[in-house]
Amino acid sequence: MFEKLETLPPDPILGLSAAFREDPSPDKVDLSVGVYKDRGGSTPIMAAVRQAEAALLAAQSTKVYLPPAGVPGFREGIFSLVLGEEAAALRGRATIIQAPGGCGALRLGAELVNRAAPAATVYLSDPTWPNHAPLLTGGGLRIERHPYYDAASHSPTLQPMLDALSAAEPGAMVLLQASCHNPTGADPRREQWSAILDVMAQRRLVPFFDAAYQGLGDDLDADAWPIREAARRLPEMLVAVSCSKNFGLYRERIGALIFIGADALQARAVESQANKAARSMYSMPPGHGGLIVDRILADPTLRESWQAEVAAMAARLRWLRKALADGIAAARPGLDASWLTRQRGMFSLLGVPPAAVKALRDDHHIYMGLDSRVNIAGLSEDNVVRVAELVAPHLA
Ligand code: LMR
Repeated sequence: MFEKLETLPPDPILGLSAAFREDPSPDKVDLSVGVYKDRGGSTPIMAAVRQAEAALLAAQSTKVYLPPAGVPGFREGIFSLVLGEEAAALRGRATIIQAPGGCGALRLGAELVNRAAPAATVYLSDPTWPNHAPLLTGGGLRIERHPYYDAASHSPTLQPMLDALSAAEPGAMVLLQASCHNPTGADPRREQWSAILDVMAQRRLVPFFDAAYQGLGDDLDADAWPIREAARRLPEMLVAVSCSKNFGLYRERIGALIFIGADALQARAVESQANKAARSMYSMPPGHGGLIVDRILADPTLRESWQAEVAAMAARLRWLRKALADGIAAARPGLDASWLTRQRGMFSLLGVPPAAVKALRDDHHIYMGLDSRVNIAGLSEDNVVRVAELVAPHLA
């Protein structure tokens, strides 16, 4: 039965990480997969997570199945975290389904959309995270792309994006990264978001937000502003939330799918359909991560500690961006790399040609995506100058 299956090439992101692990060089630098790292290159368990986890393990008396939509407190907590001051007014026409990570939420959302509008079109930014298309087509959706990024200015290219969305068929979905765009790091400014939402309202396009980095750009509220603004202006939307990065719960696979629609009746119907779709894929979500996030968001002391830690992570990312920009400017006087400091989050596309990316890996043990996507968090006080010196000659 399986003799026709060929061995596939490694995943473009996870494969790089595996290659990095096998590299024995003491000089190696991992700028591949998007995980936060401290100065020593470790991805620590956040203090609030440790405390919540210890309390959870002490209090837990059963491992019985969760309800299909997940931990009730987690669902409410994550809805308020994402929707902020809009949450109370929207709750009556919303539903929240706990999902196995942001990936699980994206796939569940695709399954749901496919039930409502079979083979519906979803627009993705060009470029986008390479796993978006497989997750969404896996759920039955059709992909179109819209221009997004101007490599010369390292910023969003608004008018071509608006033109493409203006030509989209009404009812199509648009996958929008709420903050810290992966892979470019280039987010629209607020007035640009406003223009995007205007076109979406005119064309009756439906946003499918990917909220994977809330808090790692500017702050928890500012990073969710596009979602809240869309909820104020558009009648329906989906949001795929990930707690991998901002709670550091990567391997616990904790995320959520949020639906906001016309009324309570629609929200109930959507919840039942999402539960059914989940049942046919993985039955119900894993519990551990949701129970941890529930505790953190519900306990004022833990929440405060978590918020401070997220803010510190975001500040470190901004500091590393500045350090890389300064290092490049020092290595190539006259070359302006300040765009790195205007971008946000973990990722940037450096603009290094693929041959040089390969040489950086083979000769200098610096690992980045072939498109020259770097995880800024992989830089540190100890390696940023060396990385800047090695990449600077290859920048346009
Ligand atoms: C990334 O883009 O590196 C992260 O979102 C991790 C992943 O699953 O690809």
